[in-house]
Amino acid sequence: MNKGKTAVIIGAQWGDEGKGKIVDVLSENFSMVARYAGGHNAGHTVIINGKKFILQLVPSGVLRPGCRGVIGNGVVLDPVALLKEIANLRAAGVTIDGNLFVSNRAQVILPYHRMIELAAENAPGRVKIGTTSRGIGPAYEDKMGRRGLRVADLLDLELLKTHIENAVHEKNMIAHALFNSEPLDADKMYKEYADASAQIAPFVCDTAALLNQALAGGESVMFEGAQGTMLDIDHGTYPFVTSSSSTSGGAATGTGVAPTAISTVIGVTKAYCTRVGGGPFPTEALDALGDQLRARGNEFGAVTGRPRRCGWLDLPLLRYAGMINGISWLVVTKLDVLDELAEIPICVGYKINGKKTAEIPAQASGYDQIECVYKKMPGWRTSTQGITQMEKLPKAAREYLAFVEKESGARIGMVSTGPGREQTMFVDEFSAGLRALAEPRTRAQARI
Ligand code: IMP
Repeated sequence: MNKGKTAVIIGAQWGDEGKGKIVDVLSENFSMVARYAGGHNAGHTVIINGKKFILQLVPSGVLRPGCRGVIGNGVVLDPVALLKEIANLRAAGVTIDGNLFVSNRAQVILPYHRMIELAAENAPGRVKIGTTSRGIGPAYEDKMGRRGLRVADLLDLELLKTHIENAVHEKNMIAHALFNSEPLDADKMYKEYADASAQIAPFVCDTAALLNQALAGGESVMFEGAQGTMLDIDHGTYPFVTSSSSTSGGAATGTGVAPTAISTVIGVTKAYCTRVGGGPFPTEALDALGDQLRARGNEFGAVTGRPRRCGWLDLPLLRYAGMINGISWLVVTKLDVLDELAEIPICVGYKINGKKTAEIPAQASGYDQIECVYKKMPGWRTSTQGITQMEKLPKAAREYLAFVEKESGARIGMVSTGPGREQTMFVDEFSAGLRALAEPRTRAQARI
């Protein structure tokens, strides 16, 4: 029976909710932080003492001394990207050796995954998803097709060589036939990956065993979600989604920790809404106010630099995220981005053909028929940046948060008013619950 406690941190929108900062702030209460899905399509920006870190694969927790990071089996791992990130972190003085653990069951991204994705995205007749071009989708395709290469296989050089030879032969033929792509060189690929294999080997282990042993010993584990609910392969705006289970359920399958060991789910939402790439976005603001949100919120992709589409908080989707993930606490980020607005539109419901509906469409085309019902909340037109106590927020900002809390069905535990670790405020009950999570069960019953 597991003794330690766990929390899953997930994005309640389309990713980029500011999970990196939140995981970093909350990791104080956890001894391990594990990534369970996605790959280096994620870009978690964390600012510590004015220094900016963009983490793509390494869990944000490793930035905190004493916190170990795990890359779980549900992740698709580009070894070359991981090594670059490790080198940057080492150069910044972060202790990574001995603190980072990579699952031997995680899938490996190879250059042909990127080649096929790039060619397919631009091919006539294909739906343009607007991916991050990291080869994420094709790597998950190979995983599900049972022809993927796992990290354990990457370390077995003989197997690696055979795998690359066979796969490159096959992928070159497919890419040439479908997209007229230039062939990739298997020898060159093998050399690059064999070199990466030697450098990654010290980090590799059975992370499911590691996490379960840590929990059995009373340690607490945080699962760091990547992307967001609406990008989940099953529950998101399919096909405009990523290829993994980014919702809380993925934390169990993506790490090998049982669902019964998940103690709480914390959903992160911006005070407004953004999405990158194609696909439905009911509350998108295509006017000057959308541009204002983008400029004030610096809404440009951390990984690709693409401008993010901006819009208003969508309560029907927030309620849906609550249901799919089982969110018990909400964290609201970037409240300060709304500081200058005289009025803040917030979507309180959907109508289809003039009739109210609580249904979230299963088809991307279904979203086209949605008419958003907005309520206009009064703005506060004063700076909230860096405020760290709820009582110090302007009345209209407190009312905005209270409305979100009431309508979303989840308690707000934390609000972020700037990118720095310290620009954060906590609700007492949430902080107390987190502290209780960090204590072994024998000493405290978690209230969270
Ligand atoms: P992929 O994950 O690269 O396959 O991209 C699929 C979709 O998910 C695209 O719309 C991307 O823009 C989006 N996406 C993937 N990762 C992130 C993320 O970390 N933040 C926001 N959007 C993402």
